[in-house]
Amino acid sequence: MKFKIAVLPGDGVGPDVVKEAQRVLDEVGKRFGHRFDFSTGHVGGIAIDKYGEALPEPTLALCRRSDAVLLGAVGGPKWDDPTAKVRPEDGLLALRKELDLFANLRPVKMFKVLENSTSLKPAVVRGVDLLVIRELTSGLYFGKPKQQWTTAIGRRAVDSMYYTEQEIERIVRVGFELAMIRRRKLTSVDKANVLESSRLWRQITAEIAVEYPRVKLDNMLVDACAMRLIQNPIYFDVIVTENTFGDILTDEASMLAGSMGMLPSASLAGIPDKKTLQAFGLYEPIHGSAPDIAGMDIANPVATILSAGMLLHYSLGLKQEAAAVERAVLQVLNSGYRSKDIMTKGMKAVGTAGMGKLIARAVAEQA
Ligand code: IPM
Ligand code: MG
Repeated sequence: MKFKIAVLPGDGVGPDVVKEAQRVLDEVGKRFGHRFDFSTGHVGGIAIDKYGEALPEPTLALCRRSDAVLLGAVGGPKWDDPTAKVRPEDGLLALRKELDLFANLRPVKMFKVLENSTSLKPAVVRGVDLLVIRELTSGLYFGKPKQQWTTAIGRRAVDSMYYTEQEIERIVRVGFELAMIRRRKLTSVDKANVLESSRLWRQITAEIAVEYPRVKLDNMLVDACAMRLIQNPIYFDVIVTENTFGDILTDEASMLAGSMGMLPSASLAGIPDKKTLQAFGLYEPIHGSAPDIAGMDIANPVATILSAGMLLHYSLGLKQEAAAVERAVLQVLNSGYRSKDIMTKGMKAVGTAGMGKLIARAVAEQA
């Protein structure tokens, strides 16, 4: 089959890691008889430099006519001035909003071979396999009013955590649907002891839960969840939560897997179809642009390669091909190859391209 993929490398290590994911996708194409047509667009700092905007119209149009979007990372010190009119991050936020990518899936899976690369005790992280579903187009990130102003007695600023019933319902449904095909345990995370938006979130979750009697639902306050994540991460299967809470909890949870360089994400524009699990989506590693190591052949491409795997699975419906990518990653790690972020004594050090090539070759060799 033929597929159109929009590729937005972005800034920093974005181009380094995206290149390796494309290499792996090309190999998937050869091995399984598909054609992936890649078209590149600009977003973030590079787009600000070229067009004066973080999300130029041609990039958005490219994404709209593609079957899926693969993104690297945005941002860097060059565009970090807090008084700047446009910021690279605005490009990413606009992309999420414009494409209605409300469901951000961030799986955190501990690879047994990396047990000793984490800063936590192996006994704590062993067997971690959880999925955080972060609401991505509303909440504190997008709510209005959102502004800064000056009064006679000093400066003021406001951000608003705003949610509609429909926004909560659709994300919580994604939580229940995906819990159904996993271990059927859903933890809804909020701050209902303080926030009104969280109380609405909890009410709606309880209403929807009636439709999913086979899923065990619990509600957890976000501060308690932050603690539980490192105290007993095995507790979790699927977590569903508000935009900012999810942002913070997923950085924390990434440490369970050894390195941020390992974790992929999918941002979907719909509730995955019950049978095909499919929806339009954007796929990106959860790590940032790491400008200090950009272009140095150091960055770990695994997160982006696994994101490409999620792209095959969720947006193109190529389940077998997605599984092949995951297996290839595992094989290369099992053979002892390590990028700098996950390097331990006695392992074989490889760079960004080296890792990409090894994984591509492992894809080609899949039975
Ligand atoms: C992420 C990032 C972004 C976010 C930034 C770059 C705007 O931290 O995807 O988690 O906060 O959503
Ligand atoms: Mg983040």
